[in-house]
Amino acid sequence: MFSSSGCLFCDLLYIIPLITAFYFLRQYIRGGQFKENVRANGKIAVVTGANSGVGRALCEELNKRGAKVYMLCRDEKRAAQAREQLVENGCNDSNLLIQTVDLADFSSIRDVVKILLTEESHIDILINNAGLLGIPQFEKTKDGVEKTWQSNYLGHFLLTELLLSSLEKSSDPRIVNVSSIVHPLADSIDLDYVNNPKNYGRMKAYSRSKLANIMHSRELSTRYPKIKSSSCHPGNINSNILSTSGWIFLKDIFAPIFWFCFKTEMDGAQTPLHLALSQHLKGNGLYYSDCVVVEESEKARFDGDCVKLYEQSRQVVHKWL
Ligand SMILES: NC(=O)c1ccc[n+]([C@@H]2O[C@H](COP(=O)([O-])OP(=O)(O)OC[C@H]3O[C@@H](n4cnc5c(N)ncnc54)[C@H](OP(=O)(O)O)[C@@H]3O)[C@@H](O)[C@H]2O)c1
Repeated sequence: MFSSSGCLFCDLLYIIPLITAFYFLRQYIRGGQFKENVRANGKIAVVTGANSGVGRALCEELNKRGAKVYMLCRDEKRAAQAREQLVENGCNDSNLLIQTVDLADFSSIRDVVKILLTEESHIDILINNAGLLGIPQFEKTKDGVEKTWQSNYLGHFLLTELLLSSLEKSSDPRIVNVSSIVHPLADSIDLDYVNNPKNYGRMKAYSRSKLANIMHSRELSTRYPKIKSSSCHPGNINSNILSTSGWIFLKDIFAPIFWFCFKTEMDGAQTPLHLALSQHLKGNGLYYSDCVVVEESEKARFDGDCVKLYEQSRQVVHKWL
């Protein structure tokens, strides 16, 4: 009941500034917020990795702003649970549609695109958000591609290629690639190199795919100037991103620290949301963090390398185009 000094007023002199400092630190960690009062009525949005983390939060915001949202998820059960939760949170359930897709399987991407193109005359917003981090050992997909590379980058590349004509029919088309601040760690994005087990490392594989996400956006903006293509670092988020790595237990052990030091999933959704909806986007092909343009690493800025990556990616997926 009593303060240690015996003087409540003296203790408050310490406690109040401490609480204020924690509050402002926490606000700082939450990062930039999308504050424009923009509706998305009538817009058709497609979000990958929609059952968890940033993707689920994006679906919630887009839906609440009036968009019809296709939740692209690889697991039907997890997708249904996420959808149920979003409806409980106030989303309009008739505007929240699940489609299953495994980005690590080109045939499943083509199947989902067939459905989307049959259902919709056009698509306004594509958010390439799904991602995994930290597969312990080198693994190839059934398409013969290193798994992180295909799940995070090449699968999204194919999905985007197959939806381009539909996006071009929109009056304000947007493509958002969710990358990461670790992209400068990438050593090479050459497929032969990426696909060589000798060059595998958990973070290396992840950073390569995230560098490719940015270069993809840059090249899209050159080839398809009508479409606003952007990439972003969503922030460091208290999500399930470690679930593939075997390190997810850290989230439970250090729960309070994670809660304080990382963004919430909704905070993580703010920058991609800004790129999907803002009426004040400047330029095209740019990289963002906390809702503002930031400089991507030098490796992402060589136009010739962006062209090369795009052409090489098209060659790998050509039979699915
Ligand atoms: N968390 C961070 O601190 C952080 C930092 C920088 C960038 N990012 C990026 O933010 C994006 C979202 O991550 P998050 O933090 O929200 O992680 P998350 O909660 O783990 O969500 C990732 C989503 O991607 C899905 N996914 C993974 N592999 C897939 C595949 N082959 N096919 C289809 N879906 C697949 C997951 O599905 P399942 O649930 O079925 O596994 C999940 O829905 C990722 O691109 C990540 O790289 C995150």
